[in-house]
Amino acid sequence: MIDILPIHTQRTAASRLESVDFAHIEFGKVFSDHMFAVDFINGEWQEPQIVPYGDMVVSPANSALHYGQAIFEGMKAYHQADGGVALFRPLDNWSRLNASAERMCMPEIPEELFMQGLKELIRLDTKWVPTAAGSSLYIRPFMFATDGFIGVRPSFNYRFMIFTCPVNTYYNKPLRVRFEQKYVRSAEGGAGYAKAAGNYGGAMYPSKLAHDQGYHNLIWTDATEHQYVEESGTMNIIFVMDGKVITPALSTSILDGITRRSVLALAHDMGLTVEERKVSSREVMEALAAGKLEEAFGVGTAATIAPIATIGYQDQDYDLPVAASNAFSHRVRAALDAIRAGEGADVHNWMVRV
Ligand code: COI
Repeated sequence: MIDILPIHTQRTAASRLESVDFAHIEFGKVFSDHMFAVDFINGEWQEPQIVPYGDMVVSPANSALHYGQAIFEGMKAYHQADGGVALFRPLDNWSRLNASAERMCMPEIPEELFMQGLKELIRLDTKWVPTAAGSSLYIRPFMFATDGFIGVRPSFNYRFMIFTCPVNTYYNKPLRVRFEQKYVRSAEGGAGYAKAAGNYGGAMYPSKLAHDQGYHNLIWTDATEHQYVEESGTMNIIFVMDGKVITPALSTSILDGITRRSVLALAHDMGLTVEERKVSSREVMEALAAGKLEEAFGVGTAATIAPIATIGYQDQDYDLPVAASNAFSHRVRAALDAIRAGEGADVHNWMVRV
């Protein structure tokens, strides 16, 4: 095991920064100049490196490609009011990445390796952190198996990498979603709580069917009864019903979202009642019919808070009331934005300077 640092850094000879139109970036298409990479070989982390962003060589028999031994995180860095850059809850991402690693039989990533790689990469590409309101630097840490071996067993070797992309708002309008009561994203006891690549690949077909019907996303339900709400698309989901902030309780089939956690903490701070429990599709639709469903929104790193305008249920669409300007989703969004921009009191110590 190396004593982490220094990180061997090879700077790009030709930055692409000047060619980027920051006002018109499509999510996930523009990558900053550099990437971080470190290999895990023979049970030890090797010398970490920062190199120009670019393609890499892997064996065609790479077991991540065949058996999906691959995990990732989504996190963000924000331009600060005083000109600096800060990360939002990076240690939460680090510990969740390790929870995913354990579930997928992958090695643990030491905190110093994660944090130092992250900070040095962002310092080097600091000019890529967008400054416009609503924009941020999306960060993608990920780890994958590198053994060239198609026998089915956990790989012996891995690569942990981080790259970043400047991003703007993920969704630019309120969402149309529908309850999914045939396909499932995950079952209890599965890997749904892990940020494992296969969870996303497996969700693509049912999501495509919903897109073809004019919906942005699905509301996933449980694998046994197809009644209880799990997540929405690639986000957690939160409802405001009868004045209470209600969200499905975490389980082995639900991702422990960091935006979810943050929104619930801010709801507590605002003195609201928060309930983490089972929520059935029927409860949601009955609350809507009775005028008690005040708001529904997805929460995730990429999208932050994505209001839901319409819910499809049993082949019919139902519109939600338009959230008032002082609605919880607006207030919590404003509170989160202020903390992230270094303008609001960070009472939970969520921001970490780069
Ligand atoms: C995130 O919000 O970071 C996600 O995981 C969504 C992503 C798959 C685009």
